[in-house]
Amino acid sequence: MNRMMQVPHLRNHYSNLVMQFLKEQVENINTDMSILDIGCGHMRNLKLFELLGFKELHALDIDPTDNPLDVKYKTFTQHNIINRLPYKDKSFDIVLCNYVLMFIEPEYMQEVVADIFRVSRNYVILETARRKDFNTKTTNYTNYNFEEIVRFVPTDFEIIKQRNYREKLIARRLYG
Ligand SMILES: C[S@@+](CC[C@H](N)C(=O)[O-])C[C@H]1O[C@@H](n2cnc3c(N)ncnc32)[C@H](O)[C@@H]1O
Repeated sequence: MNRMMQVPHLRNHYSNLVMQFLKEQVENINTDMSILDIGCGHMRNLKLFELLGFKELHALDIDPTDNPLDVKYKTFTQHNIINRLPYKDKSFDIVLCNYVLMFIEPEYMQEVVADIFRVSRNYVILETARRKDFNTKTTNYTNYNFEEIVRFVPTDFEIIKQRNYREKLIARRLYG
């Protein structure tokens, strides 16, 4: 198993940011919406959407998954996100990218961020964490910069939640 996936809370708990999103956007979302989880790990966040009744669940990770939470996903794609995502523009209603971009070298970051937003029809939920906050000895952290990630958000999205010090961001597409 990849060392990046050994942190217990990533298996057992949902992302607070995803929980906040669901609470705050409950009147704007519905279970017909499709979800893509980029860098899905153990798919804990897809599990949350599944439990809420979402069925169009799609996962992508650089590593294969053993799917320990038995998520009923529609597709799993093994892919390195420094290469263009293998989806058409606006393929998914909600795109998650939780605790992945801190492993992306800064030279790739602008293109990777643009690509994450490209495949979203509506929402992007994105978070990173400093190694000290993450309580892990993982050594794959790059010299990424969250504020730079925020600057790379395309102009056809509005940021509806931003916490620079906690490295969290939710954005919504402005024009259909
Ligand atoms: C810390 S885990 C987070 C997993 C999940 N998003 C979550 O919040 O529970 C980071 C995940 O990103 C994946 N990952 C790291 N670099 C990647 C890359 N270049 N392309 C795709 N996935 C990547 C790892 O394999 C791992 O599953």
